[in-house]
Amino acid sequence: MLFHRLIPIFAAAAQALPQPASANCRDIQIPITVSTPRFIVTASLQDDWDVTALTFNLTRRDSGKAADPLPLNGQTSASIKSTYTVGATLCGNGGPTLVLTHGIIESKLYWRPNFPGSEQYNFVDAAIAQGYSVLSYDRIGVGSSPKVNSLTDAQFQVEVAVLEGLVNYAKTKAHATKVALIGHSYGSYISSAAATHIEVDGLVLTGFSGTFDYFAPFVAGTNLRIARSQNPVRWGKLDSGYLTTSDLYAEAYIYYAAPYFEHSVAEYTFNVASEPFAIGELPSLLATTIEYEDIKAPVLVLQGQFDVSACGGNCVGVVNGTKDIFTGAKVLKYVDNLPAG
Ligand SMILES: *[C@@H]1O[C@H](CO)[C@@H](O)[C@H](O)[C@H]1NC(C)=O
Ligand SMILES: *[C@@H]1O[C@H](CO)[C@@H](O)[C@H](O)[C@H]1NC(C)=O
Repeated sequence: MLFHRLIPIFAAAAQALPQPASANCRDIQIPITVSTPRFIVTASLQDDWDVTALTFNLTRRDSGKAADPLPLNGQTSASIKSTYTVGATLCGNGGPTLVLTHGIIESKLYWRPNFPGSEQYNFVDAAIAQGYSVLSYDRIGVGSSPKVNSLTDAQFQVEVAVLEGLVNYAKTKAHATKVALIGHSYGSYISSAAATHIEVDGLVLTGFSGTFDYFAPFVAGTNLRIARSQNPVRWGKLDSGYLTTSDLYAEAYIYYAAPYFEHSVAEYTFNVASEPFAIGELPSLLATTIEYEDIKAPVLVLQGQFDVSACGGNCVGVVNGTKDIFTGAKVLKYVDNLPAG
């Protein structure tokens, strides 16, 4: 009874307070059909011994060279067609729209965390408050998207095609008038590759320096483990080619830089927002040439200074190299010294 008497009070209070920006968000499922050749990924991961051997191969000094080739054996001769029902969150009603692609060992929660006090970290709400609509999604294999095969489906060029399909969705079904792609880390590579194929109005890259020279400390420091044995309750349904970090501290090493973060945020990320990535994703990215010079849209590269995967822990003196990569862009701006990992 008390509850019923309280409802009008809550209703009045809700009207008096400004609505949180997220009120205008809804979770949706978007079927996307892609047709691209697939790499033949030869890595076969059954247990953490295999993962440790692969980590060694991917991080040794001459990785990717003749003595230690990528675990790939060419490509399928024909395109392979697949339809994936992508789990997404759409906020706003169109107009200028941001399409967000998260990185590996992340999910779309990266952009819109939901722990108490997370407002200051909520990129989606900040963007909505500035008048943008926002489409964020889980990459195939992640979170609310289908648990695709880790070798044959979860590949870079397939994910680029998925993003292109989502941009088409934004323009044709979600009333987007302009589209900017925003990526984090692996999602920055996906966003860049999409922007070489389709017309977009802006490209924002974070966790990105344009070089893989400093990839080894990231791969080694991640302390990769097979996700389904690492956490059967969360990930028991994934095949054994899905990998995650060994523990909270490995994850803190690759994503956060002390003293510029709250431990509770790293704990939330590890326990809630992080999702495994698929082993097919890395060699397919490394084997793809992205024609950065074809990108015409304005580009913003926004970097925490102490990023491990992009810069080996110090972006100053590395991210300036992006001006030699985006030679066709109308504008390139970079920020290399935000106090963050
Ligand atoms: C690592 O590379 C060696 C050859 O140098 C190869 O025999 C082995 O299968 C590779 N391991 C994995 C897990 O890819
Ligand atoms: C970036 O900055 C570093 C350090 O100042 C310098 O050595 C390097 O040549 C610069 N790279 C480019 C492409 O300008």
